[in-house]
Amino acid sequence: MSTSSPELFVEIDRSRPRGLRAQLERSLRDAIRAGRLRPGVRLPSSRALAADLQITRGVVIAAYHQLTAEGYLSSRQGWGTVVNAITTPEEPQRRRPPPPSARYDFRPGAPDVALFPHAAWARATRTTMRSLPEQSLGYSDPAGLPALRETLADYLGRVRGVSCEPDDIVVCNGFSHGLSLLARVLAKRGIAVENPGHPNWREQIEWAGASCHPIEVDDEGLRVDRLTASGAGAVLVTPAHQYPTGVVLSASRRISLLDWARTSGSYVIEDDYDAEYRYDRQPVGALQGVAPDHVVHAGSLSKSLAPGLRLGWLIVPPALREEVVAARARSDRFTTSIIQATVAEFIQRGDLDRHLRRTRRNYRQRRDALIAALCRHWPAYHATGISAGLHVLVKLADSMDATHLAATAARHGILIQPLDRYRSSPAPAQHPALVMGYSRLTPHHIEEGIHHLATVLKSAGVTP
Ligand SMILES: Cc1ncc(COP(=O)(O)O)c(C=O)c1O
Repeated sequence: MSTSSPELFVEIDRSRPRGLRAQLERSLRDAIRAGRLRPGVRLPSSRALAADLQITRGVVIAAYHQLTAEGYLSSRQGWGTVVNAITTPEEPQRRRPPPPSARYDFRPGAPDVALFPHAAWARATRTTMRSLPEQSLGYSDPAGLPALRETLADYLGRVRGVSCEPDDIVVCNGFSHGLSLLARVLAKRGIAVENPGHPNWREQIEWAGASCHPIEVDDEGLRVDRLTASGAGAVLVTPAHQYPTGVVLSASRRISLLDWARTSGSYVIEDDYDAEYRYDRQPVGALQGVAPDHVVHAGSLSKSLAPGLRLGWLIVPPALREEVVAARARSDRFTTSIIQATVAEFIQRGDLDRHLRRTRRNYRQRRDALIAALCRHWPAYHATGISAGLHVLVKLADSMDATHLAATAARHGILIQPLDRYRSSPAPAQHPALVMGYSRLTPHHIEEGIHHLATVLKSAGVTP
C-alpha cells in the first residue's frame, strides 16, 4: 500500500516495512536529480514527515542523514533540512540562456520601478487590511469594488475632466486586459488602430477575434478622414500623446473624430496611458468628457505607479456597459480585492498625487538629460513630440536604417527601439526613427549611454 505526504511528494510502500528507509532515500534522490526538488527547498521536519508517511521518525532521520552524507541535502541551524544545488547531466539542457545584459536600457514603456513609493504603499496596505470588510475577501462585483470605483470617478473627474458615475467604471487588470474585453464586445464592428501604434494592441484585438484596421498618423495625430473608408466601427486612439510619435491629436481632428463616432454610431477607445506626465503644459482634457456616450476612456496604473500592480479601468458608455461587465466576469471574474482596496486607500490619502509630483520632477530631469545628451553627442538628431510621458521619438536621416542601428547598439549593451517595430503594413511613408525611453536611467547614465552610443555607431561606420 503506497502512502505520501501533503507537504512532500514521495511515495512509500508500507507493505514492505524492511525497505522503508531505502525507498525514502531513493524517492528523494530521484526527485532531487530530476530537478523536481529544487535547490534551496526546505523539507518537512523528520517528525512531520514520519507522521504523514506513518513510519517511525528514526527512518526519516536515517534517510536525511544518508542524503546529507551524499551531498544532496544539508541541515541549517534554525532552518531545517534543505536541498543542495547539484549538477546533474540533465541540468545544462534545462537551463535557459541568460538574457542579453544591457548597460543602457532606452526601451520605452515602463516607468522606473525603483521610484515606487514603498512606505506609502505599505501604509495604505496596513490601513486596508485593518478595515477591509470580511465580504471583500469573498467573490465580489466583476465591475470592481464600489470604494475603488467611487475613488476613481472623483480622481479622474478632478485630473482628467472625465464625466462619469462610479457605476460607469469597470476595473480590470491593466489596459491590455481592458482592451481584450472591449475587442470581444466590439468584435463584429472591426477596430481601427493608429499606424504607428503599440504592436501588442494590434495582436490583442486580433486575438479577441476582431479585425484590425491600421490608419496612418501624421503631425496632427490620427488621419480621422480615413476612418469611414476603413469600414471599422470603433477606433483605438492615444489623443493626449500619440504612442509612439508623441504628437497631440489636433483640435480640429478631435472634433472630426467625435463627429464620425456620433454620425456613424461608432465608438472611440481613448487610451489615456500617460496623461499624468506633462512637463511644460497641462494635458488636453479627456475626449470622454465631451462625448461620454461614444467614448470608452481607458486608464491604468502601469505608467504612474507600476505595471506589476496590473490595475486599470474602463469608463464605459451606458449602451456597452452590460456586455463589458459580462465579458469581464467571464474572463477572470474580478480584479484582486486587496489590490483594489489598497489602490482606493492610496489615492484617497493623496499618496498618488504626492508620488506623481515627485516622479514628474524625476522624469522631466531625465527627459532634459536625454535631449541635452543628443545635442552634445548626436547633434544632427533631436527629440520630437511634446514634452510629456516617458519616451521621445528621434527622427533620423532618410538614408539611415533604424533597425540595423538598433541591432548594432544592442550588441554593445545599449537597448533602443526602431520606429518600424510600431508600424503595421501598409507602413506610412515616414522618416526612419528611434523610439527612446528615458524613464529607467538616471540623468548621469543617460549622458553616459548616449555618449557610448555615438562612439559605437561611429566605429561601426554609422554616421549621421
Ligand atoms: C500606449 C500604452 N497604453 C497603455 C499602456 C498600459 O498597459 P497595461 O495597463 O496593460 O500595462 C502602455 C504600457 O506600456 C502603453 O505603452
